[in-house]
Amino acid sequence: MHTDLCINRKCNDLTLLLGSECSLFCPVLPQAESFLLSKFGEQSHAVTSAIMEAARNDCPAIHEAGVDCYYAIPLEEKTPCNWFGIGQIRSVPLTIARTLISVAWEAMRREATNRELNEALHVAEKEIKYVRNTAGLLRDLNNKHSKRSTQGNYNSRQAIDAARKFLHAESVAAYIEADADIQKTTLTSTVSSASKLTIEDIGFLLKKVGKPAIGESLNLRNLRIRINKVRVKSLDVVPISESETLGYLVAVNAQLQPEYLHARTEILQDIGDFLIADGHTNAVMIESEQLALGILRSMSTAIEARDPYTHGHSERVAQVGVKIARRLGLPESSCQEIYLAGTLHDIGKIGIPDAVLLKPDRLTQEEYSVIQQHPEIGFKIIDGLGKLRFALPGILYHHERFDGKGYPHRLKGEEIPLMARILAVADAYDAMTRSRVYRTAMSREDTCRILREGRNIQWDAKAVDACLAWMSESDIRDEELPFDTLPASVIDSQTSATHQTYQPASI
Ligand SMILES: [Fe+2]
Repeated sequence: MHTDLCINRKCNDLTLLLGSECSLFCPVLPQAESFLLSKFGEQSHAVTSAIMEAARNDCPAIHEAGVDCYYAIPLEEKTPCNWFGIGQIRSVPLTIARTLISVAWEAMRREATNRELNEALHVAEKEIKYVRNTAGLLRDLNNKHSKRSTQGNYNSRQAIDAARKFLHAESVAAYIEADADIQKTTLTSTVSSASKLTIEDIGFLLKKVGKPAIGESLNLRNLRIRINKVRVKSLDVVPISESETLGYLVAVNAQLQPEYLHARTEILQDIGDFLIADGHTNAVMIESEQLALGILRSMSTAIEARDPYTHGHSERVAQVGVKIARRLGLPESSCQEIYLAGTLHDIGKIGIPDAVLLKPDRLTQEEYSVIQQHPEIGFKIIDGLGKLRFALPGILYHHERFDGKGYPHRLKGEEIPLMARILAVADAYDAMTRSRVYRTAMSREDTCRILREGRNIQWDAKAVDACLAWMSESDIRDEELPFDTLPASVIDSQTSATHQTYQPASI
């Protein structure tokens, strides 16, 4: 006999309310008549009459037979009603039995309504909890906006990892369509950490199950797809979209319970919206960084244009700095910072008068003091540009000496930031190997000798050794120096800076 949970519960409620057994009964079942006979014997006709009356009027009916009363109570709120609660009330006058049944029926209905409300409340509580958690998650992700890096897809990874945790999913992935306009959003395909599925697997799954349109979602259960040893049993897919679909957010084998489905799908949609917003912000940040960098490089170019003898100096210092940094085993992110700091290291010379900067004769002490201000002028220029602050140590300290006799702060040894120690060697290398108005370029041998003699006196020995190692390994010519590892997001590789420098103090 198949009955739903709600009807069973109503029948149980009646048993409790009436204090005697209330039986479930469906008149259209084949065994209905034999059931009545076995249960009520010769009084089954009274039960049958009660059932017929209850079915006709959609309300409880009661019939008296002998000293007992027999009742039928509809358990479904629909017409025709298929299920009834039936039973016997012993040795009670009909009027009292009628009142008892009426009260029990009302109580049963109230109980059922309360139960439905409680269940709805329970679901609402869960929904609220999920919404609150999602709001917390999004707030947390948004807070990290201000601290984030535009490198890679760190924020996307954080967001989909959080979604995986919320959904108890095996994998969550952002699958970005190959032809999506990512120029404005910087969105990239990303799979959550520790996923056994690759982004190609996610693409395969999407091709197999189809892709939802904007505003829709796919919530598929009982799947039997096997891919890369992963048995895909469920998929939840929402589009990542604004005016057009850019990709899809996919949750694989999320442990969903039916009543939570709505809130959980919303989590995916919220994460998709976050990815779009985050991508836009990244794009704007990259654009503004490129703009700021472009302006600064133009300033450097303008400085170097004042003196043809130092044409391209800053760019070469930047690239030699990277060669040294790599040989010192620094991570690529540090090499990238050294490169940018190198291109900007003499930016402060914009504040030095031509009469001093371009003076072909020997500088007076007063003029030399003026030119020594350029690291601090450069510091003030770049300090106002938050995103380029990483370059400040290189700009401010590239004229410090290892023995403490440099400027502007006479720092000594490893008090001098490594970036500046590296750029000091690169600066000296370029100054020595290029012709000046007052002398021709030094030979490689002389350059090596001077660098070697200046180990731990003017320059950090480790940086000098790394420079010497690079020089010994390379047949150094300008065309071998191009920096080819910077991401396009940070630097415009087409820009060719031309810079000017003056001869380092000790050379
Ligand atoms: Fe300088």
